[in-house]
Amino acid sequence: MTTWNLKGTQKHVLICNGSSCMRKEGEEITLAIREEIATLQLDHEIHTSRTRCNGRCKDACVVIVYPEGKWYSATSTEVGRDIIKNHVDPSIHLHDALIYDFVDDELNAVNESSRIEGIMKKEKTNV
Ligand code: FES
Repeated sequence: MTTWNLKGTQKHVLICNGSSCMRKEGEEITLAIREEIATLQLDHEIHTSRTRCNGRCKDACVVIVYPEGKWYSATSTEVGRDIIKNHVDPSIHLHDALIYDFVDDELNAVNESSRIEGIMKKEKTNV
């Protein structure tokens, strides 16, 4: 067990380690993200957490970055590394991997035509 002093942390990267994401290189992507953070000496700025399922299994492996509120589909270790590199170099292109973006106080789907829409929570509660 570890208790970090998170003072000064600028980003929190949540890496899905639910079963669907683990079947799609979740472990390798987790390690690649953490290795990239160490390589770029960003340990004091970026904190990572492994999570259970985030409810977007079709986009495995799901990686979420806060405070931006950006949700990514990391389909390879390279995409995972690029998510971290983007922190220091915003010109690194991530648009294809972006699935949700937090805009106007809510999550908005990005690249909708190439993704499974999923079940609306309102629909589910009306069943
Ligand atoms: S297991 Fe990762 S989103 Fe479901």
